[in-house]
Amino acid sequence: MNDKLISRHFLLYILTCIGSIGIAAAQPIIIPIETHNNALVLQADKGKDVSIIYFGRKLSGNAEYSKVEGVYKQPGDYTGMFNAAYTPSGSRNLLEPAITVTHADGNTSLDLKYVSHTVTKVADDVSLLSIVLKDPVYDFEVTLFYKSYFKQDVMEQWSSIKHKEKGAVVLQKFASANLYLKAGSFYLNQYHGDWAREMEPEESKLTHGIRTMDSKLGTRANLLMPSCFMISLDKPATEDEGNVLYGSTEWSGNFRTDFELDPQDNLRIIAGINNYASPYTLQPNEAFTTPPFLYTFSDKGKGDASRKLQQWARNYKILDGKGTRLTLLNNWESTYFDFNETKLAALLKDTKKLGVDLFLLDDGWFANKYPRNDDHAGLGDWQENKSKLPNGISSLVKEAQTDGVKFGIWIEPEMVSPKSELYEKHPDWVIKQPKRDEYYFRNQLVLDLTNPKVQDFVYGIIDTLFIKNPALAYIKWDCNAVIYNAYSAHLKNQSHLYIEYVRGLYKVLERVRTKYPTVPMMLCSGGGGRVDYAALQYFTEFWPSDNTEPLERIFIQWEYSYFYPAITSSNHVTDWGKQPIKFRTDVAMMGKLGFDIVVSKLSGNDLAYCQEAIKNYDALKPIIWQGNQYRLSDPRESSTASVLYLNEAKTAGVIFNYLVNYRYGSGSKLPILVKGLDATKNYTLKEIDLYPGTTSTIDGNKIYSGEFLMRIGFNPDTRNDRTSVVVKIEEAK
Ligand code: DGJ
Repeated sequence: MNDKLISRHFLLYILTCIGSIGIAAAQPIIIPIETHNNALVLQADKGKDVSIIYFGRKLSGNAEYSKVEGVYKQPGDYTGMFNAAYTPSGSRNLLEPAITVTHADGNTSLDLKYVSHTVTKVADDVSLLSIVLKDPVYDFEVTLFYKSYFKQDVMEQWSSIKHKEKGAVVLQKFASANLYLKAGSFYLNQYHGDWAREMEPEESKLTHGIRTMDSKLGTRANLLMPSCFMISLDKPATEDEGNVLYGSTEWSGNFRTDFELDPQDNLRIIAGINNYASPYTLQPNEAFTTPPFLYTFSDKGKGDASRKLQQWARNYKILDGKGTRLTLLNNWESTYFDFNETKLAALLKDTKKLGVDLFLLDDGWFANKYPRNDDHAGLGDWQENKSKLPNGISSLVKEAQTDGVKFGIWIEPEMVSPKSELYEKHPDWVIKQPKRDEYYFRNQLVLDLTNPKVQDFVYGIIDTLFIKNPALAYIKWDCNAVIYNAYSAHLKNQSHLYIEYVRGLYKVLERVRTKYPTVPMMLCSGGGGRVDYAALQYFTEFWPSDNTEPLERIFIQWEYSYFYPAITSSNHVTDWGKQPIKFRTDVAMMGKLGFDIVVSKLSGNDLAYCQEAIKNYDALKPIIWQGNQYRLSDPRESSTASVLYLNEAKTAGVIFNYLVNYRYGSGSKLPILVKGLDATKNYTLKEIDLYPGTTSTIDGNKIYSGEFLMRIGFNPDTRNDRTSVVVKIEEAK
């Protein structure tokens, strides 16, 4: 950490320690949480209410934050708590609460007053502020946590709730975070989706009242909507301009985010676990800790915000974010359930021939009484299917080793087919209403992960695979069903089911990671049905969508990239779509490359093209995975989509360009402005990934200054016979 940063942390520490530890506040206590560019400023006033007095680009003088309120002449606040840092309900609050409780004596009022606060330094560049709040009447306490990542301007916010009342307290609502933003207007960019339609953006101006984004699906919770969103202040932010907040809840189950444009025209954001059907009974002295709500803010537009978030994710959140990944060949779309040892032996050879690192065996390898020959049976019976794989997985792992490739395997351990031995043996392990008909999602049901025995079983699936096959190198963890008929035979309190399910899942993942800390795992949920930063602490990558049609994929990957770094995005080349293999491969290269095609059916040129592209990818992957990403040309606004990945030193990068509009005469008529380069450096642009027999129309020997490329631009020359153009950019010395 450099001196400047040390002094900033020290300043934050001093500022926040003033007035600390349980004294009655004679003067308001200002608690600024500052990151490199931003500040969230809290204030404990004389009456010990804690509120948010500023959020945005930080000021150079801390003393001025207390003046902010005075320059706003907005309508009155009857309650004095529209801007509460964590809004309680049942006392004087009139708006959406962050927390609602029923006390042990049945009373439903809550007030939360400042007690103390402390700041601890977690690591270089990472600080944790905690603020203790207490009810003056009831022995009920909430601690608010704000973890700030200085360099990336990222914040994680959560709360811990506990009490010492004479009996249990019921938490009716228990948000992770409560934010408060001031601006002339607010624009919410949210996402919706479905199978094969992940991450469809919708932007709208927020009007007075409450807009709620949520999920009630239990598992595969993001199928219809993920928790990530953007809020633009005053006007919709663009890639390079505007004030924009990105947020999402680090939780793999039901979430809820309320956006309330309050009577004063300010925006209150209240986010956390969805309290739908989930009142939580909290025993005395038990702590209920909410998951973190994650956010970052930029006054330089969406591109800056996403680069910061991607950097944060690689540095602090995703498993092995600074590490490497394996390229692979998957058999799902080439065989579906129809394979045997002979077919797989050929695919293992194809894996080597293609030049990727690993072969991934997908669904269909298990179950005997009810063989997994389609998606109607067998889930839960994780023994190799004897007729397909008489010699078991271990012989395949060995064969892969002989062929010089690694071996990975698909599992869907949280699920059960009604036609399975597991269901016959343990009907009580299944989530279902005892008095109602079963209702299926993809012909299957969800196991009750609230039950420790089920947790052991799920953990055992993975553990057994590794014990039997220590050389197993990769897991694809799928999750295809949502929770219908939510009822657990194990739980006494049914309203804990949605929460305890996710906790059970994390317990299993924790055990897996304790014993197998590094093995790469793909987070899949029938596509992108479960993509969040809580799960990504245990996974190295995710499966964005079953939709691998490459044109569609440009849009899907584009939207995910606002929130997740390329190293986490598993992109496979498949036979979806009519585009040539070059287009499909180039698109998949924008993240973590994989293939799901019949290699033996490729023409000589197609195979040669793929082999060359994989070599190029291997050379470029450090930049694609760890570099900074700049979106240059938006497929929704232009005929050409263009994205740059640039190394930190600004000396090397790669630009992916695609024609996304096939109307007559479409193409990159105008140059595309490059971003992020060093204006004083000189660069060459060389087209790579050329299909055999074709030549580039880009002169790779021409030298351009960074200034030229950023002011005038470059032209990838996309057109109907050049629909996909990959350009390597390098400093010319
Ligand atoms: C859904 C996944 O998204 C697919 O990639 C594939 O693994 C199937 N499940 C297998 O059933």
